[in-house]
Amino acid sequence: MSRAALEWMQKELASYEEQGRLRTLAECEPLETGWLRRNGVRMLNLASNDYLSLGSEGDDLHEPEQSAASDGRETERARRSTGSTASRLIVGNHPEYTAFEEEFAAYKGTESCLLFGSGYLANVGVIPALVGRHDVVFGDRLNHASLVDGIVLSRAEHKRYRHRDLDQLETMLRSTPAGRKKLIVTDSIFSMDGTVAPLCELVWLKDRYGAMLMVDEAHSGGLYGKEGQGLVHALGLSGQVEVQMGTFSKAYGVYGAYVAGEHLLKSYLVNAARSFIYTTALPPDLVATIRRQWRRVRQESWRRRVLQEKAAMFRSILRQHGLDTGQSECHIVPVIIGGNEETLRMAERLQLAGIAAVAIRPPSVPEGTARIRFTIMAGHRDEDLRWAANQIVKCREQAGGA
Ligand SMILES: Cc1ncc(COP(=O)(O)O)c(C=O)c1O
Repeated sequence: MSRAALEWMQKELASYEEQGRLRTLAECEPLETGWLRRNGVRMLNLASNDYLSLGSEGDDLHEPEQSAASDGRETERARRSTGSTASRLIVGNHPEYTAFEEEFAAYKGTESCLLFGSGYLANVGVIPALVGRHDVVFGDRLNHASLVDGIVLSRAEHKRYRHRDLDQLETMLRSTPAGRKKLIVTDSIFSMDGTVAPLCELVWLKDRYGAMLMVDEAHSGGLYGKEGQGLVHALGLSGQVEVQMGTFSKAYGVYGAYVAGEHLLKSYLVNAARSFIYTTALPPDLVATIRRQWRRVRQESWRRRVLQEKAAMFRSILRQHGLDTGQSECHIVPVIIGGNEETLRMAERLQLAGIAAVAIRPPSVPEGTARIRFTIMAGHRDEDLRWAANQIVKCREQAGGA
Protein backbone atom coordinates (compact mmCIF):
# COMPACT_ATOMS: atom_id res chain seq x y z
CA MET A 1 0.00 0.00 0.00
CA SER A 2 1.27 3.47 -0.79
CA ARG A 3 2.81 4.97 2.39
CA ALA A 4 2.56 8.51 1.09
CA ALA A 5 -1.19 8.20 0.68
CA LEU A 6 -1.54 7.53 4.41
CA GLU A 7 1.21 9.70 5.92
CA TRP A 8 -1.32 12.39 6.73
CA MET A 9 -3.17 9.90 8.92
CA GLN A 10 -0.07 9.32 11.03
CA LYS A 11 0.28 13.09 11.48
CA GLU A 12 -3.36 13.47 12.49
CA LEU A 13 -3.00 10.77 15.13
CA ALA A 14 0.20 12.37 16.49
CA SER A 15 -1.60 15.68 16.76
CA TYR A 16 -4.55 14.08 18.64
CA GLU A 17 -2.01 12.61 21.05
CA GLU A 18 -0.30 15.94 21.56
CA GLN A 19 -3.63 17.54 22.37
CA GLY A 20 -4.44 14.75 24.84
CA ARG A 21 -7.45 13.61 22.85
CA LEU A 22 -6.25 10.33 21.36
CA ARG A 23 -8.89 7.62 21.68
CA THR A 24 -7.98 3.97 22.14
CA LEU A 25 -10.22 0.99 22.73
CA ALA A 26 -10.14 -0.39 26.28
CA GLU A 27 -11.44 -3.94 26.51
CA CYS A 28 -14.58 -4.03 28.69
CA GLU A 29 -15.83 -7.43 29.76
CA PRO A 30 -19.20 -7.48 31.56
CA LEU A 31 -19.16 -9.33 34.89
CA GLU A 32 -22.17 -9.74 37.19
CA THR A 33 -24.84 -7.06 36.92
CA GLY A 34 -23.39 -3.57 37.31
CA TRP A 35 -19.73 -4.64 37.17
CA LEU A 36 -17.18 -4.97 34.46
CA ARG A 37 -13.53 -5.73 33.90
CA ARG A 38 -11.74 -2.96 32.02
CA ASN A 39 -8.27 -3.69 30.73
CA GLY A 40 -8.09 -6.48 33.28
CA VAL A 41 -9.30 -4.42 36.28
CA ARG A 42 -12.64 -5.11 37.99
CA MET A 43 -14.75 -1.92 38.20
CA LEU A 44 -18.27 -0.83 39.05
CA ASN A 45 -19.85 0.18 35.78
CA LEU A 46 -21.16 3.73 36.13
CA ALA A 47 -20.87 4.58 32.45
CA SER A 48 -23.42 2.36 30.76
CA ASN A 49 -26.67 3.32 29.02
CA ASP A 50 -28.22 0.00 29.96
CA TYR A 51 -30.61 1.78 32.32
CA LEU A 52 -32.87 -1.20 33.08
CA SER A 53 -29.98 -3.68 33.09
CA LEU A 54 -31.71 -5.65 30.38
CA GLY A 55 -28.79 -5.60 27.98
CA SER A 56 -26.14 -6.92 30.34
CA GLU A 57 -28.08 -8.56 33.14
CA GLY A 58 -26.43 -11.42 35.02
CA ASP A 59 -28.29 -14.30 36.67
CA ASP A 60 -27.68 -12.55 39.96
CA LEU A 61 -30.32 -9.83 39.33
CA HIS A 62 -33.64 -10.24 41.23
CA GLU A 63 -36.54 -8.01 42.23
CA PRO A 64 -35.37 -5.92 45.23
CA GLU A 65 -37.50 -7.80 47.82
CA GLN A 66 -35.99 -11.07 46.64
CA SER A 67 -32.48 -9.72 46.29
CA ALA A 68 -29.57 -11.84 47.24
CA ALA A 69 -26.19 -10.22 47.90
CA SER A 70 -23.96 -10.53 44.86
CA ASP A 71 -21.21 -13.03 45.38
CA GLY A 72 -19.22 -11.68 42.45
CA ARG A 73 -20.01 -14.71 40.33
CA GLU A 74 -19.34 -14.20 36.64
CA THR A 75 -22.20 -15.91 34.95
CA GLU A 76 -22.10 -17.10 31.39
CA ARG A 77 -25.09 -14.85 30.71
CA ALA A 78 -23.27 -11.76 31.98
CA ARG A 79 -20.25 -12.55 29.95
CA ARG A 80 -22.26 -12.90 26.76
CA SER A 81 -24.46 -9.78 27.05
CA THR A 82 -27.45 -8.99 24.88
CA GLY A 83 -26.60 -5.35 24.27
CA SER A 84 -23.29 -3.56 24.10
CA THR A 85 -24.84 -0.80 26.28
CA ALA A 86 -22.71 2.07 24.95
CA SER A 87 -20.19 3.15 22.35
CA ARG A 88 -17.06 1.01 22.34
CA LEU A 89 -15.12 4.06 23.51
CA ILE A 90 -17.27 4.34 26.64
CA VAL A 91 -17.88 0.93 28.20
CA GLY A 92 -19.06 -1.02 25.20
CA ASN A 93 -15.84 -2.67 24.06
CA HIS A 94 -16.71 -6.29 24.74
CA PRO A 95 -13.79 -8.75 24.17
CA GLU A 96 -15.83 -10.43 21.44
CA TYR A 97 -15.19 -7.48 19.10
CA THR A 98 -11.43 -7.51 19.32
CA ALA A 99 -11.22 -11.28 19.02
CA PHE A 100 -13.46 -11.29 15.97
CA GLU A 101 -11.74 -8.30 14.36
CA GLU A 102 -8.34 -9.95 14.63
CA GLU A 103 -9.52 -13.20 13.11
CA PHE A 104 -11.49 -11.46 10.39
CA ALA A 105 -8.51 -9.26 9.45
CA ALA A 106 -6.33 -12.37 9.06
CA TYR A 107 -9.00 -13.89 6.81
CA LYS A 108 -9.16 -10.72 4.70
CA GLY A 109 -5.36 -10.57 4.45
CA THR A 110 -5.18 -7.18 6.17
CA GLU A 111 -3.47 -6.02 9.36
CA SER A 112 -6.66 -5.03 11.09
CA CYS A 113 -10.37 -4.60 10.93
CA LEU A 114 -12.99 -2.45 12.67
CA LEU A 115 -16.65 -3.34 13.09
CA PHE A 116 -19.42 -0.86 12.34
CA GLY A 117 -23.14 -0.99 13.06
CA SER A 118 -24.07 -1.36 9.39
CA GLY A 119 -22.71 -0.80 5.90
CA TYR A 120 -24.48 2.52 5.70
CA LEU A 121 -22.91 3.66 8.97
CA ALA A 122 -19.47 2.52 7.82
CA ASN A 123 -19.67 4.48 4.58
CA VAL A 124 -21.03 7.69 6.07
CA GLY A 125 -18.39 7.51 8.81
CA VAL A 126 -15.29 6.42 6.94
CA ILE A 127 -15.38 8.78 3.96
CA PRO A 128 -15.70 12.01 5.98
CA ALA A 129 -12.88 10.71 8.20
CA LEU A 130 -10.60 10.30 5.19
CA VAL A 131 -11.36 13.48 3.25
CA GLY A 132 -12.61 16.99 3.90
CA ARG A 133 -13.59 20.18 2.13
CA HIS A 134 -10.19 20.72 0.45
CA ASP A 135 -10.02 17.20 -0.96
CA VAL A 136 -11.41 15.33 -3.96
CA VAL A 137 -13.32 12.05 -4.18
CA PHE A 138 -13.56 10.21 -7.49
CA GLY A 139 -16.61 7.97 -7.60
CA ASP A 140 -18.09 5.62 -10.17
CA ARG A 141 -21.46 7.01 -11.32
CA LEU A 142 -23.20 3.80 -10.22
CA ASN A 143 -21.80 3.75 -6.68
CA HIS A 144 -24.22 2.88 -3.90
CA ALA A 145 -26.18 5.68 -2.23
CA SER A 146 -24.40 5.16 1.11
CA LEU A 147 -21.05 5.97 -0.55
CA VAL A 148 -22.56 9.06 -2.14
CA ASP A 149 -23.98 10.15 1.23
CA GLY A 150 -20.55 9.67 2.81
CA ILE A 151 -19.01 11.89 0.14
CA VAL A 152 -21.68 14.57 0.61
CA LEU A 153 -21.07 14.55 4.37
CA SER A 154 -17.33 14.89 3.85
CA ARG A 155 -17.83 18.16 1.90
CA ALA A 156 -15.05 17.07 -0.46
CA GLU A 157 -15.40 17.81 -4.16
CA HIS A 158 -17.15 14.84 -5.78
CA LYS A 159 -15.97 13.97 -9.28
CA ARG A 160 -18.13 11.23 -10.79
CA TYR A 161 -16.74 9.19 -13.65
CA ARG A 162 -18.85 7.18 -16.11
CA HIS A 163 -19.44 3.61 -15.02
CA ARG A 164 -16.06 1.78 -15.12
CA ASP A 165 -14.62 4.43 -17.45
CA LEU A 166 -10.94 4.35 -16.52
CA ASP A 167 -9.92 6.87 -19.19
CA GLN A 168 -12.27 9.47 -17.78
CA LEU A 169 -11.08 8.70 -14.25
CA GLU A 170 -7.45 9.08 -15.29
CA THR A 171 -8.17 12.42 -16.96
CA MET A 172 -9.80 13.61 -13.73
CA LEU A 173 -6.91 12.36 -11.57
CA ARG A 174 -4.35 13.96 -13.84
CA SER A 175 -6.03 17.35 -13.73
CA THR A 176 -6.32 17.43 -9.92
CA PRO A 177 -3.56 19.46 -8.22
CA ALA A 178 -1.05 17.37 -6.27
CA GLY A 179 -1.67 19.19 -2.94
CA ARG A 180 -5.23 17.88 -2.57
CA LYS A 181 -5.94 14.54 -0.92
CA LYS A 182 -7.49 12.14 -3.44
CA LEU A 183 -9.78 9.22 -2.72
CA ILE A 184 -11.19 6.81 -5.31
CA VAL A 185 -14.37 5.10 -4.14
CA THR A 186 -16.03 2.16 -5.85
CA ASP A 187 -18.44 -0.70 -5.31
CA SER A 188 -16.77 -4.02 -6.16
CA ILE A 189 -20.03 -5.45 -7.58
CA PHE A 190 -22.53 -2.82 -8.62
CA SER A 191 -25.80 -3.57 -6.90
CA MET A 192 -28.23 -2.43 -9.61
CA ASP A 193 -26.30 -3.83 -12.60
CA GLY A 194 -24.41 -6.89 -11.44
CA THR A 195 -21.26 -5.52 -13.05
CA VAL A 196 -17.75 -5.91 -11.61
CA ALA A 197 -15.40 -2.99 -10.90
CA PRO A 198 -11.99 -3.05 -12.68
CA LEU A 199 -10.13 -3.33 -9.37
CA CYS A 200 -6.65 -4.14 -10.73
CA GLU A 201 -6.74 -1.09 -12.97
CA LEU A 202 -8.04 1.09 -10.13
CA VAL A 203 -5.12 0.00 -7.95
CA TRP A 204 -2.73 0.89 -10.75
CA LEU A 205 -4.31 4.32 -11.21
CA LYS A 206 -4.42 5.19 -7.52
CA ASP A 207 -0.73 4.29 -7.17
CA ARG A 208 0.18 6.32 -10.19
CA TYR A 209 -1.66 9.45 -9.00
CA GLY A 210 -1.03 9.13 -5.25
CA ALA A 211 -4.66 8.52 -4.35
CA MET A 212 -6.27 6.25 -1.74
CA LEU A 213 -8.68 3.54 -2.85
CA MET A 214 -11.80 2.48 -0.95
CA VAL A 215 -13.69 -0.60 -2.16
CA ASP A 216 -17.21 -1.44 -0.96
CA GLU A 217 -17.50 -5.25 -0.98
CA ALA A 218 -21.16 -5.34 0.09
CA HIS A 219 -22.13 -7.58 -2.83
CA SER A 220 -18.92 -9.60 -3.17
CA GLY A 221 -18.10 -10.36 0.47
CA GLY A 222 -18.67 -14.06 1.16
CA LEU A 223 -19.04 -14.77 -2.56
CA TYR A 224 -15.59 -14.49 -4.15
CA GLY A 225 -12.31 -16.10 -3.15
CA LYS A 226 -11.66 -19.61 -1.86
CA GLU A 227 -13.33 -18.94 1.49
CA GLY A 228 -15.46 -15.99 0.45
CA GLN A 229 -12.93 -13.30 1.41
CA GLY A 230 -14.24 -11.04 -1.34
CA LEU A 231 -13.13 -9.77 -4.70
CA VAL A 232 -10.17 -7.69 -3.49
CA HIS A 233 -8.65 -10.75 -1.85
CA ALA A 234 -9.54 -13.06 -4.76
CA LEU A 235 -7.59 -10.76 -7.08
CA GLY A 236 -4.58 -10.71 -4.72
CA LEU A 237 -5.02 -7.01 -3.96
CA SER A 238 -5.53 -7.13 -0.19
CA GLY A 239 -2.33 -5.28 0.67
CA GLN A 240 -2.89 -2.68 -2.01
CA VAL A 241 -6.32 -1.31 -1.26
CA GLU A 242 -6.25 1.28 1.53
CA VAL A 243 -9.83 0.71 2.67
CA GLN A 244 -11.88 -2.45 2.21
CA MET A 245 -15.39 -2.15 3.48
CA GLY A 246 -18.11 -4.79 3.56
CA THR A 247 -21.36 -5.68 5.22
CA PHE A 248 -22.58 -8.77 7.08
CA SER A 249 -26.15 -8.06 6.00
CA LYS A 250 -26.01 -9.75 2.60
CA ALA A 251 -24.17 -13.02 1.89
CA TYR A 252 -23.45 -13.51 5.61
CA GLY A 253 -27.17 -13.20 6.32
CA VAL A 254 -26.84 -11.20 9.55
CA TYR A 255 -26.26 -7.48 10.13
CA GLY A 256 -23.29 -5.21 10.80
CA ALA A 257 -20.27 -4.22 8.76
CA TYR A 258 -16.47 -4.04 8.77
CA VAL A 259 -13.67 -1.87 7.48
CA ALA A 260 -10.37 -3.70 6.89
CA GLY A 261 -6.94 -2.22 6.28
CA GLU A 262 -3.73 -1.28 8.08
CA HIS A 263 -3.40 -0.87 11.88
CA LEU A 264 -2.94 2.82 11.22
CA LEU A 265 -6.31 3.02 9.48
CA LYS A 266 -8.06 1.34 12.41
CA SER A 267 -6.45 3.65 15.01
CA TYR A 268 -7.35 6.62 12.90
CA LEU A 269 -10.99 5.59 12.36
CA VAL A 270 -11.43 4.97 16.09
CA ASN A 271 -10.55 8.64 16.49
CA ALA A 272 -12.18 10.16 13.45
CA ALA A 273 -15.16 8.11 12.18
CA ARG A 274 -18.14 9.73 13.84
CA SER A 275 -20.47 6.82 13.07
CA PHE A 276 -18.11 4.61 15.09
CA ILE A 277 -17.49 7.03 17.95
CA TYR A 278 -20.95 8.40 18.60
CA THR A 279 -23.12 5.32 18.40
CA THR A 280 -23.79 2.18 20.39
CA ALA A 281 -21.72 -0.80 19.29
CA LEU A 282 -23.25 -3.92 17.77
CA PRO A 283 -24.67 -6.29 20.40
CA PRO A 284 -21.98 -8.85 21.34
CA ASP A 285 -24.54 -11.60 20.82
CA LEU A 286 -24.88 -10.41 17.26
CA VAL A 287 -21.11 -10.51 16.78
CA ALA A 288 -21.21 -14.12 17.97
CA THR A 289 -23.92 -14.77 15.35
CA ILE A 290 -21.81 -13.09 12.66
CA ARG A 291 -18.93 -15.34 13.67
CA ARG A 292 -21.11 -18.45 13.31
CA GLN A 293 -22.32 -17.38 9.88
CA TRP A 294 -18.78 -16.48 8.86
CA ARG A 295 -17.64 -20.00 9.70
CA ARG A 296 -20.32 -21.37 7.38
CA VAL A 297 -19.36 -18.91 4.64
CA ARG A 298 -15.78 -20.19 4.82
CA GLN A 299 -16.60 -23.87 5.00
CA GLU A 300 -19.57 -24.21 2.66
CA SER A 301 -17.87 -23.25 -0.58
CA TRP A 302 -20.48 -25.21 -2.55
CA ARG A 303 -22.87 -22.32 -1.93
CA ARG A 304 -20.60 -19.95 -3.87
CA ARG A 305 -20.23 -22.40 -6.70
CA VAL A 306 -23.92 -23.24 -7.13
CA LEU A 307 -24.90 -19.58 -6.83
CA GLN A 308 -22.80 -18.65 -9.85
CA GLU A 309 -24.03 -21.69 -11.80
CA LYS A 310 -27.66 -20.86 -11.10
CA ALA A 311 -27.17 -17.18 -11.94
CA ALA A 312 -25.49 -18.09 -15.25
CA MET A 313 -28.35 -20.43 -16.16
CA PHE A 314 -31.02 -17.83 -15.25
CA ARG A 315 -29.24 -15.08 -17.17
CA SER A 316 -28.72 -17.24 -20.21
CA ILE A 317 -32.46 -18.10 -20.51
CA LEU A 318 -33.34 -14.41 -20.33
CA ARG A 319 -30.69 -13.49 -22.89
CA GLN A 320 -31.70 -16.28 -25.26
CA HIS A 321 -35.15 -14.68 -25.36
CA GLY A 322 -33.73 -11.28 -26.15
CA LEU A 323 -34.14 -9.63 -22.76
CA ASP A 324 -31.65 -6.91 -21.89
CA THR A 325 -29.71 -8.03 -18.81
CA GLY A 326 -27.10 -5.32 -19.30
CA GLN A 327 -23.56 -6.39 -18.53
CA SER A 328 -24.43 -8.49 -15.52
CA GLU A 329 -21.84 -11.14 -14.72
CA CYS A 330 -22.90 -12.33 -11.30
CA HIS A 331 -25.83 -13.18 -9.02
CA ILE A 332 -27.48 -9.78 -9.56
CA VAL A 333 -29.37 -9.84 -12.85
CA PRO A 334 -31.27 -6.77 -14.04
CA VAL A 335 -33.79 -6.79 -16.85
CA ILE A 336 -33.62 -3.30 -18.24
CA ILE A 337 -36.98 -1.98 -19.39
CA GLY A 338 -36.35 1.75 -19.84
CA GLY A 339 -39.44 3.76 -18.89
CA ASN A 340 -40.63 4.07 -15.30
CA GLU A 341 -44.31 3.32 -15.93
CA GLU A 342 -43.54 0.31 -18.07
CA THR A 343 -41.19 -1.04 -15.42
CA LEU A 344 -43.82 -0.68 -12.71
CA ARG A 345 -46.36 -2.49 -14.89
CA MET A 346 -43.86 -5.28 -15.49
CA ALA A 347 -43.27 -5.61 -11.73
CA GLU A 348 -47.06 -5.87 -11.21
CA ARG A 349 -47.39 -8.55 -13.89
CA LEU A 350 -44.54 -10.48 -12.30
CA GLN A 351 -46.22 -10.26 -8.94
CA LEU A 352 -49.46 -11.67 -10.40
CA ALA A 353 -47.40 -14.48 -11.91
CA GLY A 354 -45.97 -15.22 -8.44
CA ILE A 355 -42.57 -13.55 -8.72
CA ALA A 356 -41.37 -11.01 -6.19
CA ALA A 357 -38.84 -8.65 -7.75
CA VAL A 358 -38.32 -4.96 -7.32
CA ALA A 359 -38.77 -2.23 -9.91
CA ILE A 360 -35.78 0.08 -9.72
CA ARG A 361 -36.24 3.58 -11.09
CA PRO A 362 -34.23 6.81 -11.19
CA PRO A 363 -32.59 8.24 -9.16
CA SER A 364 -31.38 4.78 -8.04
CA VAL A 365 -30.41 4.14 -11.69
CA PRO A 366 -29.77 6.58 -14.59
CA GLU A 367 -32.78 8.13 -16.34
CA GLY A 368 -34.22 5.88 -19.07
CA THR A 369 -32.78 2.66 -17.59
CA ALA A 370 -35.53 1.65 -15.16
CA ARG A 371 -35.36 -2.06 -14.59
CA ILE A 372 -36.44 -5.07 -12.64
CA ARG A 373 -33.66 -6.35 -10.45
CA PHE A 374 -33.45 -10.08 -9.82
CA THR A 375 -31.11 -11.56 -7.25
CA ILE A 376 -30.32 -15.25 -7.22
CA MET A 377 -29.72 -17.32 -4.08
CA ALA A 378 -27.79 -20.56 -3.66
CA GLY A 379 -30.95 -22.10 -2.18
CA HIS A 380 -33.09 -21.49 -5.27
CA ARG A 381 -34.03 -24.72 -7.04
CA ASP A 382 -33.01 -24.94 -10.70
CA GLU A 383 -36.56 -25.78 -11.77
CA ASP A 384 -37.94 -22.74 -9.93
CA LEU A 385 -35.39 -20.48 -11.60
CA ARG A 386 -36.22 -21.94 -15.01
CA TRP A 387 -39.92 -21.44 -14.36
CA ALA A 388 -39.29 -17.84 -13.20
CA ALA A 389 -37.12 -17.01 -16.20
CA ASN A 390 -39.85 -18.27 -18.55
CA GLN A 391 -42.50 -16.26 -16.67
CA ILE A 392 -40.36 -13.16 -16.96
CA VAL A 393 -40.01 -13.72 -20.71
CA LYS A 394 -43.79 -14.16 -21.02
CA CYS A 395 -44.55 -11.02 -19.01
CA ARG A 396 -42.17 -9.05 -21.16
CA GLU A 397 -43.67 -10.45 -24.36
CA GLN A 398 -47.17 -9.49 -23.19
CA ALA A 399 -45.92 -5.94 -23.07
CA GLY A 400 -44.44 -6.34 -26.54
CA GLY A 401 -40.98 -5.71 -25.16
CA ALA A 402 -38.85 -8.73 -25.97
C1 LIG B 1 -22.97 -1.40 -2.13
C2 LIG B 1 -23.61 -1.23 -0.79
N1 LIG B 1 -22.94 -0.64 0.19
C3 LIG B 1 -23.46 -0.47 1.41
C4 LIG B 1 -24.72 -0.91 1.71
C5 LIG B 1 -25.29 -0.69 3.07
O1 LIG B 1 -25.14 -1.84 3.85
P1 LIG B 1 -26.10 -2.12 5.08
O2 LIG B 1 -27.36 -2.66 4.53
O3 LIG B 1 -25.34 -3.09 5.93
O4 LIG B 1 -26.30 -0.81 5.77
C6 LIG B 1 -25.47 -1.59 0.74
C7 LIG B 1 -26.81 -2.13 1.08
O5 LIG B 1 -27.79 -1.98 0.50
C8 LIG B 1 -24.91 -1.73 -0.56
O6 LIG B 1 -25.61 -2.34 -1.54
